[in-house]
Amino acid sequence: MKTIVVENVEFSYNRENALENVSFSVNEGDFVAVMGPNGSGKTTLLKLILGLLKPKSGKIKVFNLDPWENREKIQNYIGFMPQKEHISSNFPILVKDVVLLGRAARKRFSKLTKEDEKKAKEALMAVGLENYWLKKFNELSGGQQQRVLLARALAVDPKILLLDEPFNGVDIPSQDKIIEVMDKLAKKGVTILMVVHNINPLLHHINKVILLNRKLIAFGPPSEVLTAERMVETYGSSIPIVVCEEGYAHPLFGDTHG
Ligand SMILES: Nc1ncnc2c1ncn2[C@@H]1O[C@H](COP(=O)(O)OP(=O)(O)OP(=O)(O)O)[C@@H](O)[C@H]1O
Ligand SMILES: [Mg+2]
Repeated sequence: MKTIVVENVEFSYNRENALENVSFSVNEGDFVAVMGPNGSGKTTLLKLILGLLKPKSGKIKVFNLDPWENREKIQNYIGFMPQKEHISSNFPILVKDVVLLGRAARKRFSKLTKEDEKKAKEALMAVGLENYWLKKFNELSGGQQQRVLLARALAVDPKILLLDEPFNGVDIPSQDKIIEVMDKLAKKGVTILMVVHNINPLLHHINKVILLNRKLIAFGPPSEVLTAERMVETYGSSIPIVVCEEGYAHPLFGDTHG
C-alpha cells in the first residue's frame, strides 16, 4: 500500500523555488534515505509531507489525504524528529515528559494513560536510555538529547517516521542500535524517511534513496541511484560510499583515500 505520494511538487519560500519537479511514492515498510547538499530542500520536503507547508503546485497524499488540509489527522500516524530542537536549555523538563509529549500531542486534553507510559518507556529503551526516565533533559549531553527526541518520535507508535538528520552528534554504538530499531519497524510495515549525510551505515537497511538538489535528481533502490554520475549531479563532486561484504570493504565509487 502506498503511504506517501508526491506528484510534481513545487514549493518556494520567496521568489526562488526551494523545490520543483519532485515526484515519488513510497510504500508501507519502505526505508528511504533522503540525501542532498545543504539547502537542497530536504527539510522542506519533510515539512510538506507533514502538512506544515503548502505546495505552490503539485499534489501530496499521505494515506490518501492532503496533508495541508488534514494536518491534525495525519499527525496521528507520523512520528517526526526535527533537525534541531528548540527546547529551552533552562527549562527543567524531565526526559519522561519530553518522550510523553510525543503521545500527548495527539490527545489534546485527555489524560495520559498507563499505556502511554508503557509506549514512552519502550521508546526510551529503543534508544538505549531506559535509565534516564527521571533525569532532567537539560542535563543530558547533546547526543543523549538527540536520542530522547528520537524516542519521542517513536513513542507515537507511528505508521510513518520522518527523521531529519537523527544521527547528529550520536555515537556509533547508539547509532547502530537505532538503525536496528528502524530496521525492525520497517519490517513491521512502518514507512521511514530519514535525512542523512552519511549513508554508509544505512546501506544494508534502506531499500530506496531520494537524491535531492531542489529538483529530484533520482529516486529508487540504492544500487541504481548511488552512482558516481548521480552523486556528482547532486553534490557537484563525488562522495565515497563503501559497501562491506563478508568483512571486505571496497569503494563502490569515489576516492576513499581523500
Ligand atoms: N523559513 C524559510 N524562509 C525562507 N527560506 C527558507 C526557509 N527555510 C528554508 N529556506 C530556504 O530553502 C532552501 C531549502 O532549505 P532546507 O532547509 O529545506 O534545506 P536542507 O536540504 O534541509 O539543508 P540542510 O542540509 O542544511 O539541513 C534553502 O535555500 C533555504 O535557505
Ligand atoms: Mg535540513
